[in-house]
Amino acid sequence: MKFLSSSLVSVVASSFCITSAAGDKTLTLDHPFQTSFKKLPQKPCVSLFTREGRIGCGTSDRESMVGQVLSWTKLMNSNYYNQIAQKLPKFVAVLGEHEYNAQTVEQIIANSDSSLLQGILVVNATSSDGSSSQGYYSPAPVSPRGEDSPSAQLTPDNGYAWNTYGDGLILKDMYGIPTGFVQDSRIAEYMYNAGDQQATDFIAKLSNENVNVFDEEIKKFPPIMAEFDLYMGPEEMNSVDCLSWIDNDGNWRPKCLPLGGTSVYATAGTPYTRGDSNEEKKPIVIVGTNMDATAMFHDLSFGANSAAGNILAVLMAAKLFGESVTDDILDGLQNKIMFAFFQGENYGYIGSRSFLRDVAYPGFECSENGTVPALAKEKDKENPKMACLSPLRHDLDFMDLGNIQHMITVDQVGILTTENTFYAYDSTGNNVLTGLSSDDWTVAASSAGALPPTPLSSLVSLSGGNVGGMVLTGYDDAYAAKSNYLSHKDTAASGNINLEAIAKAATIIARAALVSAYGDNYDGSAMNTIPDLDADDEDFKKAANCFFEDGNCDLLTNFAKMERGNMRVTHDADLGIGPSLGKPPQYYPSVLDSRNGQPFVQVDGKSYGAYNGDKTYGENKDDKFLVRPNLLSMSLYGLLNDYLGRGGLEASGDSNLKKCQSSSECSKVSCSSGIDPAVCTGSKVCVCPRAHYHLALDEGLVASPNNSTGVFIPSDDDDSVSPMYTEPYWSNDIGVHVYRASGSSASWTLGVGFVTAAGCVAASIFLNRSLRKQKLY
Ligand SMILES: *[C@@H]1O[C@H](CO)[C@@H](O)[C@H](O)[C@H]1NC(C)=O
Ligand SMILES: *[C@@H]1O[C@H](CO)[C@@H](O)[C@H](O)[C@H]1NC(C)=O
Ligand SMILES: *[C@@H]1O[C@H](CO)[C@@H](O)[C@H](O)[C@H]1NC(C)=O
Ligand SMILES: *[C@@H]1O[C@H](CO)[C@@H](O)[C@H](O)[C@H]1NC(C)=O
Repeated sequence: MKFLSSSLVSVVASSFCITSAAGDKTLTLDHPFQTSFKKLPQKPCVSLFTREGRIGCGTSDRESMVGQVLSWTKLMNSNYYNQIAQKLPKFVAVLGEHEYNAQTVEQIIANSDSSLLQGILVVNATSSDGSSSQGYYSPAPVSPRGEDSPSAQLTPDNGYAWNTYGDGLILKDMYGIPTGFVQDSRIAEYMYNAGDQQATDFIAKLSNENVNVFDEEIKKFPPIMAEFDLYMGPEEMNSVDCLSWIDNDGNWRPKCLPLGGTSVYATAGTPYTRGDSNEEKKPIVIVGTNMDATAMFHDLSFGANSAAGNILAVLMAAKLFGESVTDDILDGLQNKIMFAFFQGENYGYIGSRSFLRDVAYPGFECSENGTVPALAKEKDKENPKMACLSPLRHDLDFMDLGNIQHMITVDQVGILTTENTFYAYDSTGNNVLTGLSSDDWTVAASSAGALPPTPLSSLVSLSGGNVGGMVLTGYDDAYAAKSNYLSHKDTAASGNINLEAIAKAATIIARAALVSAYGDNYDGSAMNTIPDLDADDEDFKKAANCFFEDGNCDLLTNFAKMERGNMRVTHDADLGIGPSLGKPPQYYPSVLDSRNGQPFVQVDGKSYGAYNGDKTYGENKDDKFLVRPNLLSMSLYGLLNDYLGRGGLEASGDSNLKKCQSSSECSKVSCSSGIDPAVCTGSKVCVCPRAHYHLALDEGLVASPNNSTGVFIPSDDDDSVSPMYTEPYWSNDIGVHVYRASGSSASWTLGVGFVTAAGCVAASIFLNRSLRKQKLY
């Protein structure tokens, strides 16, 4: 468990009463959650801030919110709700997962006294009532990243209804309504039944004026309570205010971090000579996709169809492309092909906009005298890799790219709305994708007449519509019902993901890339040059397993480990490996800090998120730029080198590949371009470097100069269109405790039919995030 993601560290509360009762006994609070306690994966709904305000859940202040668990449906469906509404105790509404949607949340708010409602517990309904599979659902808005969302200004065609099952719950501000998902099915069932029982009792007793209950019973059967600690900052809050927060002692102490991370890109063919402005640059065609997903409960952002399938399709397209076309051929073609994975796309196209703005719209400008060698020790080398001190960029190679010709993106190709059929949006007029239909598979022109949100949206909006591209999708005019878009049900376990379709999409994308590389000189050879990828291909199956089933798989781990080792060789630094995807993999982008993709510079032994201070960079020979991306970015970086870096070797042909354990063993391998030395990849061969990381940070923010990492300020050239999502720090002990109230204090409520073991009560069922710092605000 070395690469624990931030959210997987559990803490045991009230351990005196966690007795270790034996084996598989029925779960009760009277023999508290014993056997599986340490691994309980319960997930909170947290708050995010934007430029304008907040979304998500949280308690209304630092006090915990406590209430008796009551089944909401049971209460509402009784004929007595109006009679009993006023007599209810403080309560926590228990909902099966299929009941949790915007409509129910509105109903709960509208029908309960806000002083009584203490929160919502959503339970995994797989086992509790057998109705888990009912219906399709998406918590994202009908127009994803569209009108009425914080990303509205970034999305062309932002009123188009792609997500017909969406209700927008994900954008709702539920301040004062702490909410959590109970993932473990045994506890979920227990909580569901407890809520049901207690609600039933209420209805029976309160609707019958003549029954005189309780005091004695309450002492015998005190109720089951849920207590939320989920403080996410004050009611009126937004990203700028929390980033610039001044504590009572007058010190600036930000209370949140921007979402973001590290995008990864690589160009195929021989790279340009660094810094040579006379060299003729070919137009670039970007083959790209998002590498992130989200969900109501961020730790359940499985994104099987919305992220994993896209990543797999583009990655395998890069592999096919690299295997099928030599650098010699590529270097003779009209356009240059780039493969790219963009981070944080669901939060305002963070990765693609950062990248495109830096490359061309309007292009990156380093501060005066800020451009320096990325490694001070290499300053006398010919053409060293360059970096910028402020605004900080750890790698400026993106400044040597040509103009962007167009972009090819892929979206949701793991679930097809029509058998053996993909759809293509195309604004280039060349109909490349539809021209790649084969006997068994059709690529049909999309009937929507609108651009679906993908990284291409960023290119279209930043270029003012002057540069376009194409999108290959598994849907025509609306997302597939089964996709459960951005809900925690978008999983491989749903059985909905069609790997054959993803393999086919990879084939089509690789061919489209080749057609685009030829440009006007295309000779019709793509079908023959690039073979069909078989869904039974071993490498494809291995990669699919990583992205859909097990993010801790050997493939990703080995590639990330090699990148860690390579950094040791080149940078004399070991930053370890960033957070992994976990098992099952989840794709929430996370916050940007030095553990997760924020690049930084070391000047005379100190680290800065950006620097324009008095010391001269490079006076200390150990000065350097560093970045530690998450495991997904690191492994994609290594994989892209592996897939695209073989054709650049002077002695071509796989049999001639030099084996290696680290890049230091590749020094004698020569790459025809000769800019950077060969590197060792996770498959333990020396290849020519092709991949780069790029900072994915909301364009409205920059790392604060002269400060350490994790400190951000509004950018001088912010033009107020980006959503600027940030996530608050939160306390280490956020979560929800579930316990049976002690008899004497429960003066206002009813008991239910559980047998009580007096005294022993609490069990903490949420997890901590070790990453989160102290209690805030
Ligand atoms: C709900 O419980 C089932 C059975 O344990 C499990 O397979 C499933 O992954 C759980 N759902 C979520 C969202 O974790
Ligand atoms: C940049 O360097 C030049 C030459 O060393 C110097 O004259 C100038 O003041 C520097 N500019 C800044 C902003 O430091
Ligand atoms: C960083 O430090 C330098 C020198 O002390 C100063 O000129 C510059 O204004 C500082 N930058 C910021 C953003 O405080
Ligand atoms: C930022 O750096 C300045 C000195 O350059 C320091 O006084 C300040 O406390 C730092 N702020 C934060 C939030 O780290």
